[in-house]
Order: sequence, then C-alpha cells, then structure tokens
Amino acid sequence: MKQNEAIAQFDVASIRKQFPTLKQTVYGKPLIYLDNGATSQKPQMVIDAIDRYYSKENSNIHRGVHFLSQHATTLYEDARTTIQKYINAPSSDEVIFTSGTTGGINLVAFSFGELLNEGDEIIISAMEHHSNIVPWQLLCERKKCVLKVIPINSKGELIMAEFDKLLTDKTKIVSITHISNALGTINPIREIISKSHSIGAKVLIDGAQSIQHTKIDVQELDCDFFIFSGHKVFGPTGVGILYGKREILDQMPPYQGGGDMIAKVTFEKTTYNELPHKFEAGTPNISGGIALGTAFEFLNQLDLNEVEVYETELLNYAQSELVKLDGLKIIGTAEHKTSVVSFVIDGLHPFDVGTLLDKQGIAVRTGHHCTQPVMDFFGIPGTIRASFAFYNTKEEVDILVNGLKRSISMLR
Ligand code: ALA
Repeated sequence: MKQNEAIAQFDVASIRKQFPTLKQTVYGKPLIYLDNGATSQKPQMVIDAIDRYYSKENSNIHRGVHFLSQHATTLYEDARTTIQKYINAPSSDEVIFTSGTTGGINLVAFSFGELLNEGDEIIISAMEHHSNIVPWQLLCERKKCVLKVIPINSKGELIMAEFDKLLTDKTKIVSITHISNALGTINPIREIISKSHSIGAKVLIDGAQSIQHTKIDVQELDCDFFIFSGHKVFGPTGVGILYGKREILDQMPPYQGGGDMIAKVTFEKTTYNELPHKFEAGTPNISGGIALGTAFEFLNQLDLNEVEVYETELLNYAQSELVKLDGLKIIGTAEHKTSVVSFVIDGLHPFDVGTLLDKQGIAVRTGHHCTQPVMDFFGIPGTIRASFAFYNTKEEVDILVNGLKRSISMLR
C-alpha cells in the first residue's frame, strides 16, 4: 500500500474517540499528549474491562471451586491466549505474566543467570534503558560474569562491526532493546539474533518500545525471550509479558517461591508447577492481565501496517518541522527510527522547556529517560522527548512546534 493511501485510510478521529483521556483540557488548554514512550493512554474497552472485573468478576484465580474464581481464571487464561496469538508464540505456556518489562528482565537475569558460570559473557548495548543494564550488572556481581557493551555511533545506531568483535564462544546471552526509548532507533534485531545463535548465545529482546508500534512474531524473529510492559501497549500498569522458548524456560529455576508456582510442598522438598505457573508465584495482577488481553483485542481491530505507515509519516513531519526551529538539534538520527523524537535546544535546559510546554497543555518527557549512558555519550544532561502514538495527529505536531516557539522566546 502506498503511504498516502494508508494515511487516508487511517481514521485517526474515530480512534481518538475511544480514548477518554485525550478529550480533556489541562490548564484550560486541550491536552496534547506526546509522552507515549513513558506510557500510552487507554481505550475505553480496556477501562471497561478493569471496571467490570472489580464490579462483577473479582475473585482469586487457579484456586477456587466457586463460580467467580473459575470465571476469573477463564478470563485470565483467555487473556494469555489472546496475547500468545498476537505475538505468535507457539503455546500459551511460554507466555508468562510479569509486573512489566523491568520485572521480566530481572526474572531472566536472575533465573537464566543461575545457569551461568564465572567468566561467562553477557552483551548489552550502549543505548539500553537502565532496566536492561542493572539486572545484568547484579548478575555479573553475583556470578562473576562479564558484561560487554555494543557501542553506538553519533546517529544513535549500534556499531555492528563492534558487535561482531564482542561475540565470543563465552557469550551466553545478548540482551538488546528492539527500539531505543531515548533515541527512537530501531535496532537490527534479526541480524543480532542470527549472529548470536550462530555461536550458541541466547537473545533477549526488550520490546517495551516496539510492541505498540510494529507487529511482533516471536517465531519469525526466533528470539529466545521477548519482554514488554502492558501499559505501553494501551493496557494497564503493573502487568507485562515475558515470552520465552519452552526448552530454555524448562531449564531455568523459578525466580520467586510462593503459591501457584508449586506442584507439591513438604518441608523436605518442593517440586514446581509447570509452565507458565512455575514463574508466576503469588496472586498476580488479575485485572491487569485480563485488561491487557483486552488491549490486544483492541489492537486486533487495527491494521498494524497502516499504523506503522501513519506513525512514520507523523515522525517525518515532526522531525522536518522541529529542525526549522533555531538552535534545535535532534538527538537520535538513525536511518531506521520509530515515532520518538528527542531533541535539545541551544542554551535551554530541557526541564525549563518541558515545564513551559506543560503550561500550554503539551505533555512531553524531559530528562535522561532512564538512559544515563546515552546522555553521557552525547554529552548532554537530558533531552526533550516527544513520543507519538497512532492517536496523535499532524495538528498536534503543529501545536508542539508553536508551543516550542513560544517557550524559546520566553526563555531566551
Ligand atoms: N521507559 C519509559 C520511558 O522511556 C518510562 O519514558
């Protein structure tokens, strides 16, 4: 489909109607929500699912013989299946509910980490979110493993020639973000996966910033782990997904002990439940899991190809308008980018700009975006970041640009 056809077909107005938060004003101005990298807004059907759960369905799952418990269990497991189908996981046993991307990466770093030995190597990149750095550092301290970092170039792209040099027969896992939350860079994960597999290393993809922008097929990618948060994909906070290949999950010891993750407990020995429950100790975020399934039902109504084309158009328009502003520099100019635009403005602190934009009803994120090494690499304290979702419009980009002009004239 040609770009213009997709944009014409993409009915943003009717999509926006389904997101109640977008209809409000802040400080008497219409809300322009451009902080989707931090969290997405929720469609009415997701809000209704949470409301319905606590109004009518609330009960603990996997535990009760009574009607409500069995009903809640069915809803929760149906949600798991919806998500399994969406990401094309071979089975719902390989789809584990977590508290979010951070929870998922910590689970793998701890549990897969238990299989590693002193001197084993882990590769991450210089553009990772802190949540894909610190869990590996903790593992390296615990097991005396070695952390290696793929460097980036001045456009914010991975230097793949350096990755080739870092891969050795000691590399056990490569943990890499699909899309940088700070720069918008889309990483060449297929190449990373096939090169890593060729030397026997596993690959974890941090999909926190990609699942909402592009169709994910974990079997086609052939990644070993794919992790994301519910709240960035139009679902609730406090819930996320870890997909892992069964043969690896089966080898990994449990992460946390407690109810639901056991088969039999005695004081002498405990045996563990099957997948996915082995990794789901304790009462989970039941309403969150059910509503995350609903978020994927919402996404199933959209044509993700149209969404991608529309968001790319928004990105190109935003970048072309923003660079016209005096002293504005975009940080992250990778050839392959998603709809995240980070920028700095000569002489102005990102926090001051963000505060003035806020007063005009424009929500952006400012600061280091939990990627301090990225900021250090570019020698800046932070950026102003506008991150778009499919419900944003070109008109909102224009309001951002005008808001920036006003802020710059006030601050200079
Ligand atoms: N990781 C989220 C962001 O980029 C919170 O804003």
